[in-house]
Amino acid sequence: MAYEFIQVRTEGERVGVITLNRPKQLNALSPALMVELGQALKAFEADEAIGCIVLTGSEKAFAAGADIGAMATYTFADVYGDDYITRDWETIRSIRKPVIAAVSGFALGGGCELAMMCDFIIAADNARFGQPEIKLGIIPGAGGTQRLPRAVGKSKAMDLALTGRMMNADEAERAGLVSRVVPLDKLMDEALAAALTISGMGRLAVMAAKECVNRAFEGPLADGVMFERRLFHALFATEDQKEGMDAFVAKRAPQFKHR
Ligand code: HXC
Repeated sequence: MAYEFIQVRTEGERVGVITLNRPKQLNALSPALMVELGQALKAFEADEAIGCIVLTGSEKAFAAGADIGAMATYTFADVYGDDYITRDWETIRSIRKPVIAAVSGFALGGGCELAMMCDFIIAADNARFGQPEIKLGIIPGAGGTQRLPRAVGKSKAMDLALTGRMMNADEAERAGLVSRVVPLDKLMDEALAAALTISGMGRLAVMAAKECVNRAFEGPLADGVMFERRLFHALFATEDQKEGMDAFVAKRAPQFKHR
């Protein structure tokens, strides 16, 4: 499929890579870009060969936010009536395969929110995160006020949302927003290696782990523990569990069949 605002490729046959591609606008997330992103994510989700997806931007910007030019003329009737955000921004949440955000440069506003909707974030040392919407007279609208405090705690989330300041990669790692910080020139190698590792695991266990961690992030502890217990038990009905444990006992590499 031909896309205008993103680039799509596969790596090592098992990893799907989506690159946001509006470099002159610092990958500002226009409505048309978000439609294409949703299409690309769904195509990788449907592709049986793909076990993990990496979402990235340019060296200078993962994404500098929703497209301010496009938003400038919107009215309440436009955004509420058209369900701006929900319709095209949340496709990523329906993807059951892991999505890794490989972030270099600016991840601001909707860009930071998009990164937070991914399953984990690997950051280059030049990455800068922030929710500067307050400076535009609005607030985050794609989950920023909800996912940021869950990731970094109330105090830092308030600081970022109320002052609009940016935090660098080291501060983001200390705060728990990103899983690893790597030199800029190693970012894609690191993200692709993680994605290849994940795509070599049994897919059923990978999906179950993702669902369980999301439960921890989104719901009460007792519900999450019970949800995890049920999926843990259920995985003993899979061939991959037998294969994984037989392989360990026999001191050989497992051959997962994703069943
Ligand atoms: C549209 C954008 C943009 C954006 C940058 N550009 N961010 N266009 N929407 N979010 C454009 C600039 O207008 C400029 O276009 C070009 O990209 C390069 O940007 P510069 O400002 O010249 O670059 P620089 O001086 O390096 O500054 C980088 C920056 C700054 C600090 C990231 O661009 C900036 O503050 N951008 C806005 C960040 C922001 O407020 N994001 C939140 C948006 S609201 P020209 O044509 O002049 O070259 C949001 C709401 C989300 O995301 C709600 C839920 C979806």
